[in-house]
Amino acid sequence: MAVAILSPEKAISRKGKLLINGEFVDALSGKEFETLNPSTGEVLAHVAEADKADVDRAVKAARTAFEEGPWSRMNARERGRLLLRLTQLVADHADELALIDTLDNGKPIRETTHVDVPLVIDCLGYYAGWADKIEGETIPVNGPFLNYTLKEPVGVVGQIIPWNFPLLMAAWKLGPALATGCTVVLKPAEQTPLSALRLGELILEAGFPEGVVNILPGFGPTAGAAIASHLDVDKVAFTGSTEVGRLIMEMAAKSNLKRVTLELGGKAPNIVMSDAIIDEAVKGAVTGIFLNQGEVCCAGSRLFVEDKVHDEVVSKLKAYAEGIKVGNPLDPATEMGAQVSEEQLDRILNYCQSGKAEGATVVTGGGRNTAAGKGYFMHPTIFSDVKDSMKIAREEIFGPVVSAIRFSEIGEAVQRGNRTNYGLSAAVWTRDIKKAHTIARKLRAGVVWINTYNTFDAASPFGGYKESGIGRELGKHALANYLETKSVWVALE
Ligand code: NAI
Ligand code: MG
Repeated sequence: MAVAILSPEKAISRKGKLLINGEFVDALSGKEFETLNPSTGEVLAHVAEADKADVDRAVKAARTAFEEGPWSRMNARERGRLLLRLTQLVADHADELALIDTLDNGKPIRETTHVDVPLVIDCLGYYAGWADKIEGETIPVNGPFLNYTLKEPVGVVGQIIPWNFPLLMAAWKLGPALATGCTVVLKPAEQTPLSALRLGELILEAGFPEGVVNILPGFGPTAGAAIASHLDVDKVAFTGSTEVGRLIMEMAAKSNLKRVTLELGGKAPNIVMSDAIIDEAVKGAVTGIFLNQGEVCCAGSRLFVEDKVHDEVVSKLKAYAEGIKVGNPLDPATEMGAQVSEEQLDRILNYCQSGKAEGATVVTGGGRNTAAGKGYFMHPTIFSDVKDSMKIAREEIFGPVVSAIRFSEIGEAVQRGNRTNYGLSAAVWTRDIKKAHTIARKLRAGVVWINTYNTFDAASPFGGYKESGIGRELGKHALANYLETKSVWVALE
């Protein structure tokens, strides 16, 4: 087995390998790295560490599979059947996959069980349905010609994913790539490589031919950079920080102009108007910032609250935050687990320090939660009296820290909400349907939620304006990321 985690105890010190050309192998260098359980700080497993030489091997396998292997000749409907088989296998192993991500990432088992894995199943099943429904068009051109388009897979794709939703990000990437007939070299994040490896086993079990999906745990500047700058990779899809997104684009530009899609950071405005159903808005604000320990790119980290209801919203939010059960992620009652790493915890704590130093008020939390365990736990944190100019209001924190910001007029709130280099998501809470839709149009973000937050569906596009990214994931929109359009001309006379 590439990775064997059947119980938390058995997980310790198990070994993960690289999936290349249908086999689990060691890195050519023989190097390995450790992945930790963030809720204890202990080593969970040793994993083979891919670098450039392994990326070369994997790209070669993916290229051969794309051009010569059974995959290259497979009917679209059969591709769909393979994806459906994989969907079923994920469903059959849902509990195990939820456990792996909880152990490797530190997120609560109730979330991996009820959010992550169901969304993975939703996504893979959705793209299974697309495989045989990707069609070209006939175009009424001038002259005695027949002109039509073919939609063809872009080729070998590199996919580099983050640690916050390890299995789900793998599914968002693999679903459309496999539905369109591409082959893949996927690099999971170094903090959370295990669920992708287990998924790799299920991919083989489902019957995907060798080389179609290659999975290479490793680090960004080595394995990640080798993928992004590889001359034989046709497209790179990345999810992670805006900073690394920039590097990816640069590497793509300097190597072979491979196609690039990016899903990057955010600093979402979550706007509560005084005519909202306040209790629902407060619950939405809680989900918006505390889901997944706040390690969410679309987290509602700037809570704009209209003057009239500001104090009520903040005091209700405080009551919720203080009631959140933080602790052992394996306990089904736990609502917030550990931050993914000590490094991430430190970043969040630095932001808390900065908020205090710049004069924001700590409503609750603001520090490490040592009572929750020896892992990297935070207290759910709320700042009020936050000014737009403060660092905590400008930069992505990627932790359970929300800034409550007052406003007196909605036009002003929208303007201030938009005043950020990010544009991934935004939300508005109001009973006024006209205002809600008008505001939705004015918000410069790829996703706008009205009277809800963090709502997802495999059929609905997700992605960012501005520095939050390029391209859209999910829905039929994501298929375009993996397709080339060929225009074919036929003389009729
Ligand atoms: P990161 O952007 O460094 O990591 C994401 C992925 O990129 C990982 O697989 C990593 O190995 C890879 N990577 C890193 N450097 C690379 C390079 N030079 N070339 C190719 N691949 C590379 O994110 P990190 O450092 O783990 O987190 C830092 C911050 O990034 C977070 O605090 C958060 O603000 C943001 N972030 C945003 C995410 C999102 O979903 N938009 C996800 C993860 C982090
Ligand atoms: Mg880990």
